[in-house]
Amino acid sequence: MTEWEELIQKCTKCKKCELHNSRKNVVVGRGNVNAPVMLIGEGPGEQEDIQGIPFIGAAGRLLDVLLNSLMLGEKDYYITNIVKCRPPSNRIPTDEEAYACMPYLRDQFTLVKPKIIVCLGATAVKYIIDRKAKITAIRGNWQEQKGIFVMPTFHPAALLRDPSKKPLMFSDMKSVREKLESMK
Ligand code: URA
Ligand code: SF4
Repeated sequence: MTEWEELIQKCTKCKKCELHNSRKNVVVGRGNVNAPVMLIGEGPGEQEDIQGIPFIGAAGRLLDVLLNSLMLGEKDYYITNIVKCRPPSNRIPTDEEAYACMPYLRDQFTLVKPKIIVCLGATAVKYIIDRKAKITAIRGNWQEQKGIFVMPTFHPAALLRDPSKKPLMFSDMKSVREKLESMK
């Protein structure tokens, strides 16, 4: 079995937190497992839970449009979430759930070896960058963690609720595109 197959199997069987009770599918990740960019969201929504694939509902489609407009496709990124099982009614994951699930995200990071991480929204910012950071204050500002560039930006679902955030997220992702180019 490859390391990826092992990881997927571990996640599929996982019962380390309460979220396993209500999930239909464990949602591990999608995209290029050797991509230079890793995008991290919050947790699977309804469609993701049904299909077992992250970011395929309305927020995911909006994210795809935004990324495609910057010529970023699935070959450029791997996308996953802080928790791999859907929180009931899409509530925010608890600390207990996020920390229980963190080893899988670490394994994904170790296998993908991204140069850039994009935190999509407050939950990813909280667990990847800083528990106390405010998304509105920190977004768009590059962070560096052990030689990895980390870009905090909005969650695409926030753009669905408030379209005035679209140009800001576009600008953040344009910085990601430019950083990627500068590394080639
Ligand atoms: N929102 C997320 O944070 N992740 C998904 O996979 C879908 C919606
Ligand atoms: Fe396991 Fe993570 Fe699912 Fe909780 S959310 S059951 S830790 S895979």
